[in-house]
Amino acid sequence: MKSSCFFSILVIVLAISVSFIIPQTNYVKTQYLNPTISPLLSHILRILGFNRTILNPSKSASTSPNLLPNHCLLWMAPFFSGGGYCSEAWSYILALNRYSKTSNFRLSIAPHGDSDNFQFWEGLPVEMQKLASELYQTQCRPEESIAICHSEPGAWSPPLFQTTPCPPPNSRFTIGRTMFETDRVNPEHVKRCNSMDMVWVPTEFHVSSFVNSGVDPSKVVKVVQAIDTEFFDPIKYTPLDLSALGNLVLGSSSEQLNPRNPFVFLSVFKWEYRKGWDVLLQSYLKEFDSSDGVNLYLLTNPYHSDRNFGNKILEFIHDSKLEKPINGWAPVYVIDSHIAQVEFPRLYKAANAFILPSRGEGWGRPIVEAMAMSLPVIATNWSGPTEYLTKVNSYPLSIDRNRMSEVTNGPFKGHLWAEPSVDNLMFLMRHVMSNPEEAKSKGEKARQDMINKFSPEIVANIVFDQIQGILEKLD
Ligand SMILES: *[C@@H]1O[C@H](CO)[C@@H](O)[C@H](O)[C@H]1NC(C)=O
Ligand SMILES: *[C@@H]1O[C@H](CO)[C@@H](O)[C@H](O)[C@H]1NC(C)=O
Repeated sequence: MKSSCFFSILVIVLAISVSFIIPQTNYVKTQYLNPTISPLLSHILRILGFNRTILNPSKSASTSPNLLPNHCLLWMAPFFSGGGYCSEAWSYILALNRYSKTSNFRLSIAPHGDSDNFQFWEGLPVEMQKLASELYQTQCRPEESIAICHSEPGAWSPPLFQTTPCPPPNSRFTIGRTMFETDRVNPEHVKRCNSMDMVWVPTEFHVSSFVNSGVDPSKVVKVVQAIDTEFFDPIKYTPLDLSALGNLVLGSSSEQLNPRNPFVFLSVFKWEYRKGWDVLLQSYLKEFDSSDGVNLYLLTNPYHSDRNFGNKILEFIHDSKLEKPINGWAPVYVIDSHIAQVEFPRLYKAANAFILPSRGEGWGRPIVEAMAMSLPVIATNWSGPTEYLTKVNSYPLSIDRNRMSEVTNGPFKGHLWAEPSVDNLMFLMRHVMSNPEEAKSKGEKARQDMINKFSPEIVANIVFDQIQGILEKLD
C-alpha cells in the first residue's frame, strides 16, 4: 500500500520533470532563432532583461504549461526596423493584443527580415516596449506553431540575405504575409509563395497580381491592413509648426505676395523614383507661383543614406527645364530630420491636403494615416490604394493616358507600374485648394471609411477569423 503510493508519487514527479525538460529543448526561439539574432537586437533584449529567458527558457515555460492553449501564433517580422513591414506588423500585433478573444492560441513575436534600428526602438512608447518584451518571451514549439513570415519573400527560408529563418522548420502551418508595388511578382518570389501553406496580401490588386503571376489561387487570401484610428484622430491634436522643421529649398518665404495662412500641401515618402516626387514637383511648380499663397512640404528620408535633397531638387528643376514664373517659384520645403512616431498626427494636422503621386504602392501607409486625420488626399489611382480610394472619400489621381511605364533598373527591371498624370495632378491641386467645403467633406468621409473598414478592432476580427479557420482545419 505504502510502496504503491510512493510509486505513484514518483511517477507524477517524473512526469512533471519530463514536461519541463521537453519544452526546454524544443522551443523554436531557443533552437533556431537565438543564434542568428543581430548584435543590436541582443543588446536591446539584454536591456530588457531578456537574457535570462533566452539563456534559460524554462523560466517562462514553468508558468503552468498545461493551462496554456496548445496553439501558438508566431508572428515573425522586422519589428524593430522602423520600415513599412515593421509598422504594418505592429498594427496587427497591437490590434490582436487589444481586441482578439485569444482563447485558443497564444500570440508570440520574433524579429525577422530587415535589420534593426535602435533609434526606432527608443522612440517606441514604453507600453509597446513592454508588450514586445512580453510577446517575445512567449515561447512556441514548432509543432504547435502557425508561423507568419511577414516580409518580402526573399527573406523566407532559405533566405537570400542574412536573417532569422522563417518559417522555422517543422512549423505546423505557414503563412507568408507580403505585397508588391509593380504589376507582377517575379518567378523566384512566386516559387517562395507557393511553398507556404497560405499567402496573405493586403488588397484585391495583390490577389490578382499574385494569382496572374502564378501563385496558387487557393493559397492567396486578402487580409487588409489596420490603421490606428484612435491614435490618428484629428480632434486630439494641435498642428506641428512646420516652418520650424522644414528647410526652404526653393522659392522664398518672404517673397510670397499672399503670405497669410498659406495653403499647405504635404507629402511623406522615402526618397525613391517610385514615389513620383518628380511628378509632384513638376505639377506643383507648373501650377503655382509665389503669388498663390501655397507651400509644399516634403517629409522624406534617404533610401540608402543618400541625403542632400535640396540639391537633388534644384538639379531636377534644371534638368526638367521648368521655367521660373515671373512672380517667382512657389516655395518648397524639405523636412529630413527624424520625426518621432508620436508626432505624426500633429504633422498631418498642420497640412491642408496630402499628396502622393506614386507609381506603385503596396498599401500606402501615409495615405491612410492622412485619411484617418480627415485630410483630403490626392493619390495615384493604381495598385494598393485602389483598395480604399473612392471619388467620395478622396481625389484619385489618373494615370497619364492610361500609360504604364517600365521599371528601368533594380531587381524588378521590366515590370510595369503606373505613370501618374501631371496634368491631372495640376488640376486636382488647384481644385482642392479652391473648393474647401468639398475638400473638407471628402476628408470627413475618408476618416469614416478608415474607421469602418480598417480600424484595429475590425482588422483584429479579420485576422482572428482567418486563424480560427486554420485551426479548424488542423484539429
Ligand atoms: C543579464 O541581464 C542583467 C541585467 O538585466 C545583467 O546584469 C547581466 O549581466 C546579464 N547577463 C548576461 C549573461 O548577459
Ligand atoms: C480608379 O481605378 C479603378 C480601376 O482600378 C476604376 O474602376 C475607378 O473608376 C478609378 N477611379 C477614378 C476616380 O478614376
